[in-house]
Order: sequence, then structure tokens, then C-alpha cells
Amino acid sequence: MEIRVFDTAEQVGQAAAMLLGAQLLQKPDSVLGLATGSSPLPIYEALIELHQRGVLDFSRATTFNLDEYVGLPAGHPKSYRRFMEEHLFSQVNLRPEATHIPNGCAADLSAEAAAYDAAIQQAGGLDIQLLGIGRNGHIGFNEPGDCFVSGCHVVELSESTVTANARFFTSPSEVPRRAVSLGIGGIMSARKILLIATGQSKADAIAQTVLGDITPRVPASILQAHPNAMILLDRAAASGLSQKDAF
Ligand code: F6R
Repeated sequence: MEIRVFDTAEQVGQAAAMLLGAQLLQKPDSVLGLATGSSPLPIYEALIELHQRGVLDFSRATTFNLDEYVGLPAGHPKSYRRFMEEHLFSQVNLRPEATHIPNGCAADLSAEAAAYDAAIQQAGGLDIQLLGIGRNGHIGFNEPGDCFVSGCHVVELSESTVTANARFFTSPSEVPRRAVSLGIGGIMSARKILLIATGQSKADAIAQTVLGDITPRVPASILQAHPNAMILLDRAAASGLSQKDAF
């Protein structure tokens, strides 16, 4: 894993946008794995600006998001489909049919998950996967557990994740308890990984991810085994690492 530390969260966003933008410039028909949550917002803002200035063209790209809440229809104001439409898709020239997010309202969620993995394969696999990280070390809602789950699957969100995500809803009781999520195998099969973390609340998870054993108790620790993973941090998120670890 390569680690880069920046002074501010804004710089992390700019750097991540530069790496995603470079991917798109080098391969205009890239398959991009995207994430939701607070961490990617500065990245999406920077990508939109680069698009508006004529630097980035998304017309040949394909995207697959990491996850979607079970039970929220695409049009629901808190669905991840709506989040992506609002924060990226509607503001760049991605083809609507090239943007993929699991359907959290599918009648058969297992079939939906299997079809999602198959669609990624059919698109040629993920060129780069953008990841945030939960305070408990989850990636793509793959929560701490006794084993790594490989394929796209339905996950039960941990209490810590429900509590953390309650900020997006009117009350914690509104936060869905399940999501359809790309599995660890799907994430690890991406040719490049770009994980970003900002803020003190992520410092423990980052220290365990980088310095601890590879264990399903800290799902992001599996990234130690990825041949091309980069972690971008602000100083607060890097505060559990020594100078030597961080550079
Ligand atoms: C989102 C996702 C989650 C988030 C994580 C961090 O698609 O898969 O794993 O990346 O919960 O969220 P933020 O960035 O809001 O702290």
C-alpha cells in the first residue's frame, strides 16, 4: 500500500480527483468503481469542475457504485442512486445507462447481487475502485466479521455504521439496516484501489488497516494484499501512523 498524507481534506479530494482524472485521460473508456458518503464529495466537486473546464470527458466511461440501501427505491431522497445523481452523474457527461448501482428494492436480492458481479465482469472489470472507510474499518459496507465475503451480497449494517450514517437521515430509526454491497472479492479484483480517509474519527481504523494483521475484523486490512492500493489521508486521519509508516 502506498500512503500519502496531506494537510487538509480538501487537498485529499483534489489529489484523488487528479488520480481518477488521470485514469480517465489514459483510458477514456475506464470502468470506475465509485463510493458514496461524505469522503468522496470534494473529489466529485473537483471532477465536475474539471469536466466543466473541458478537461475531463466521461462520455465513454462506465461506473459501478459500491452499494445501495435495501428498501430504498432509486428515487428516494436518501438512496445512493439519488446521492450519485445529485453529486456527480447529473453534472458530468456520463451516459445514464453506463452508471450502475445495485437495486436495493429487487424482489430477489441474491439474484440482484449475482447479476451485479456479472455486469462488472462483462464490462471488463473495475479499472479503479474508490473507497471510503468506516470508523470500524468497513469498506463498501463489508462490516467486521468472522470471514471475508467475496461476492456482492446483502449485508447487515453494524450499529456503528447505522449511528454514523444517521446524520444523513432525519432520525436513526430511518436508516436502513441492510444494504446490497460489492464483496471483498469484487473490491480486490479492481486493478487499482484508491482509499481516502479524512478526520480524526478515521484515525484508529486507518492505523489498524495499515499496521495491523489482515483480518476480517478490520475489513480494510485486506488491502495490504492488493498489488496496487493507494491511501490518501489528511493529517487527522493519519494521526495513528508514525512518520515512517505514513511516507
Ligand atoms: C459508501 C460506502 C461506505 C463509506 C464509509 C465511509 O458507498 O461504501 O463504506 O465509504 O461508510 O463513509 P464516509 O465517507 O461518509 O465517512
